[in-house]
Amino acid sequence: MSDHEKQPLGPLEEHTDELLDHNYDGIQEYDNPIPGWWHLIFLGSVVFSVCYVVVWHMTPIIPTLEERHAAAVIRAEEAQYGPLKDMPLGQDKILAVMGNEKWLSAGESIFKGTCAACHGPEGQGLENLGFNLTDDKYVHIESLMDIYNIIKDGSPNGKMLPQSQFDENEMVMAAGYVATMRGRNVPGPESQMVGEVIPPFPQPEQAEDQSGG
Ligand code: HEC
Repeated sequence: MSDHEKQPLGPLEEHTDELLDHNYDGIQEYDNPIPGWWHLIFLGSVVFSVCYVVVWHMTPIIPTLEERHAAAVIRAEEAQYGPLKDMPLGQDKILAVMGNEKWLSAGESIFKGTCAACHGPEGQGLENLGFNLTDDKYVHIESLMDIYNIIKDGSPNGKMLPQSQFDENEMVMAAGYVATMRGRNVPGPESQMVGEVIPPFPQPEQAEDQSGG
C-alpha cells in the first residue's frame, strides 16, 4: 500500500500530485482526491432522490395519476360543454344549444359525422334510409325532447337504432342542431318527406321569456 499521507479535500493547488505505488505496464496514477464539486453533485443527487421518493410517492401533495386524469377529464368537459354539462336534461337544455353558436357547431359535426350517413349531409334524407329533417313534416317528433329521445332510444319501429355512442351532452347538441335544420327545406327524395306538419318548435328567445314569466 502507499506510504504517503492521505490528502484532505480542497482546492487542487493546495496539494501536490503524488504518484501511487502501482504501475501497470508503465501507466501510473496520481493519488488526487475527488474534487469537491463532484462530491456536491453526488451528495446533492442522493438528497434529491430521498426528497423525491418522499414527496412524490408518500405525501398527498402530488396528485396521483388517476387524480390528474380525472382533473383533465373535467377540464376537457368544461372546455367542450361549459355550463351545458351542469344543466338538467330537458327542453331548456336543447334551447340553450339552439341559441349557442359553439354548441350548434359541435352538434353539426356530430350530425355530419354520424347522422348524415342516413339523413344526408344537409339532412335532406336518403332513399330507403333516413327521413328528410329540413321540412315541417315529422313522423316521430312533436317536441324538441322527442328529437333527443329518438337519438337516445332509436325509432319505435327499430329502423333507426339508438345512437348510444354519444353522451347526454352530445345528444343534446345533436338534437339542438337537428331542430335548427327545420325550415331549410333542402330538396331530397320525395319518399323521405313523410309525416304530418307539426307546430313550430319553441325558439331560444321564447324560452327566456317563459323563464322570466
Ligand atoms: C343507420 C341510419 C340512421 C342513422 C345513423 C341515424 N338515423 Fe335518424 N332515422 C333513420 C331512419 C330509418 C328513421 C325513420 C324511422 C322510421 O322509419 O320510422 C330515422 C328517423 C329520425 C328522426 C325522426 C324523423 C321524423 O320524421 O320523425 C330524427 C329526428 C332522426 N332520425 C335524427 C337522427 C340523428 C340526430 C341522428 C344522428 C345522431 C340519426 N338520426 C342517425 C335512420 C338513421
